Amino acid sequence: MIRSIPVTLAGRSYEVVVGPGLIDRAGERIAPLLKTRRTAIVTDSNVGEHHGERLSVSLERAGVAVDVITVPAGEESKSFAGLADLSDRLLDLRLDRGDVIVAFGGGVVGDLAGFAAAIYKRGIDFIQVPTSLLAQVDSSVGGKTAIDTPRGKNLIGAFHQPKLVLADLDVLCTLPAREMACGYAEVIKYGMLGDADFFAWLEANCAAVLERDISALAHAVGRSVEMKAEIVAEDETEQGRRALLNLGHTFGHALEAETGYGEALKHGEAVAAGCGLAFRLSAFLGLCDPADAARVERALKAAGLPAGMADAPGHPFNADRLIHHMGQDKKAQGGALTFILARRIGDAFTAKGVDPDALRQFLITEGAAS
Ligand code: GLY
Repeated sequence: MIRSIPVTLAGRSYEVVVGPGLIDRAGERIAPLLKTRRTAIVTDSNVGEHHGERLSVSLERAGVAVDVITVPAGEESKSFAGLADLSDRLLDLRLDRGDVIVAFGGGVVGDLAGFAAAIYKRGIDFIQVPTSLLAQVDSSVGGKTAIDTPRGKNLIGAFHQPKLVLADLDVLCTLPAREMACGYAEVIKYGMLGDADFFAWLEANCAAVLERDISALAHAVGRSVEMKAEIVAEDETEQGRRALLNLGHTFGHALEAETGYGEALKHGEAVAAGCGLAFRLSAFLGLCDPADAARVERALKAAGLPAGMADAPGHPFNADRLIHHMGQDKKAQGGALTFILARRIGDAFTAKGVDPDALRQFLITEGAAS
């Protein structure tokens, strides 16, 4: 049940290994990649609580020296202050250029440790051991690393590809149900944007994935990683096709901005609501059959996810405030609104210059206040 999926990039190719039992045998896979026999594991307090010292033990058994740096759990660590603290601790350990950082945690740890690796002594190697479904299927693959600033999320960062990703499916068993659903939003997004068969498989197997049936998880994570690897190999720095991975994110970020980027509406939930809205906007503009938008809505709701604004806390939102946030999106160019829209399930495309009046009208039909 263990699969190795290549991310093929000239001179910087690496494998994403997906399967059960990978943490306990991580040392065997990591040791051969090291120039020195020294690593620093960057993790957070929640991960330590659930997975203890299994990763360090496995590395030490393979003859690798390990130092562990624990950062506070939560998005606040992904900040300039968090980065400064982590950099100081890496410097205090006298980590050298040939040594390796291992990011062991969810998206926050991966993004922070990955960015620190990108700039520490002008760049050292790092390895991702993601512990959330969202990190396994999205953020650990593809080399996007970043921190947040008070002006927005992920605005300061770098592309820095890992040397290896180990996605151990067993760790998903300790994930709270809400975190599983958030990761599932990113999984089903792959079906929506580029694989109608995978979408149909998820419609039939949603409960098995969320209940952590191991073979269902292996297919869901494996197919998601395969799609991401293929897209990243074609368009590493998001000049074109990689933008499709942002399906649901323009609406999602606007809803997150309005709800305070916190527990009220988590990122995966905002993406789910955003995907529902992206399909309904596509139907509203006459680009997609409304039946596909309705199918997307049903599939998201089956996973307990919001499928639009009306399901999000804070509803009704103000249409103009949402449009303002959308104008700040990283994809917006020269003030023009860019969305990932769909012709049908499995066929998304980038739509530049969406008419703000049509968007406003759409948001009002969705229940936004004018
Ligand atoms: N999370 C979207 C990307 O990696 O491009």
